[in-house]
Amino acid sequence: MKTQILGIGHALPPKVLTNNELEKMVDTTEEWIIERTGIRERRIADNNTATSDLSYQASLMALERSGISAEEIDLIIVGTLTPDMLLPSTACFVQDKLGAINAAAFDVAAGCTGFVYALTTAKKFLQSPQYKYALVIGGEVLSCVTDYADRNTCVLFGDGAGAVVLGKGSGDSGIINTYLGADGSGAKHLYVPAGGSRMPASLQTVNDRMHFMRMNGNEIFRFATRITLEISNKLLEMAGLDYKDVDIFIPHQSNLRIIKTAMKRMKIPEEKTLINIRDFGNMSAACIPVGLSLAEQEGRLNPGDLVLMVAFGGGLTYGGALVRWGRD
Ligand code: ACO
Repeated sequence: MKTQILGIGHALPPKVLTNNELEKMVDTTEEWIIERTGIRERRIADNNTATSDLSYQASLMALERSGISAEEIDLIIVGTLTPDMLLPSTACFVQDKLGAINAAAFDVAAGCTGFVYALTTAKKFLQSPQYKYALVIGGEVLSCVTDYADRNTCVLFGDGAGAVVLGKGSGDSGIINTYLGADGSGAKHLYVPAGGSRMPASLQTVNDRMHFMRMNGNEIFRFATRITLEISNKLLEMAGLDYKDVDIFIPHQSNLRIIKTAMKRMKIPEEKTLINIRDFGNMSAACIPVGLSLAEQEGRLNPGDLVLMVAFGGGLTYGGALVRWGRD
């Protein structure tokens, strides 16, 4: 039995934050942001919208497209680094909103690789006869951990959510393989210092802006360009396939220069690569499922297509999935 993607959905908050607006907030320019990152604008959630709200919207679309009802879902996993709360999990909020009363629900904390980690976990669950359908979500409200006084990070991030409904099929379509990894020694390159058990929230931590993301961009850049190729090589090698077999490459959207370096090394042309960083920036765990959903909407995903997805992020974590598009 193969694990198949039965339906996809996405949700993007309507509010747009442009580079021109960022020019008024920090010492930056539209030219610098476009040249160094490829980002023109990003979506930002309003104060009343949390990760579970966007995740719920994306899930409704995915369920509708899959033809599966919320009650039929056995498992909900949310990949996120911006949960609604430390307790309970965002997945529990989504479960309640959907009325998915028969589903187990939990979050996966794997930074920007959260969706790929969640997808891999759900695939393992679906190998058991006890689980038939799973809902896997990558959702983020990164604007709530972004320091809009720090030009090194605030130009990069945006909010959004994407969801897929997984089921089982007997044909050739489905997830061929996935690959996950981590290098905890790189934790210091991307982290939120306060708000956990290491440094609980206090007046001091708030004053010191320690509830925002801190990033060593150059280290992440080096790591990202190396690991994207390594993951892709592994996935294709395990499947006995080659870069020329790939119909669509869906990379994590963190910097256009990282994506272009990967395309060049893999010899995958731009028309076979999904690039939406210009419009949405880096939405962390939401990048890949939002990308999948938009690609399907645009008619860029066809039955039989070989889809290569690769992500990396805080942890450091990394992972990817190779999928033969379609369902029984
Ligand atoms: N506007 C203007 N100047 C800026 C800005 C800005 N927004 N940000 C940084 N600079 C300055 C720096 O201060 C530095 O100035 P200095 O030379 O006077 O010190 C100069 O630009 C060059 O800085 P670099 O860090 O070398 O700039 P670089 O071209 O490498 O771009 C960037 C920085 C965009 C952060 C890049 O390193 C990057 O994209 N890294 C990867 C980030 C990433 O992938 N993060 C997320 C991964 S995990 C996840 O998705 C959550």
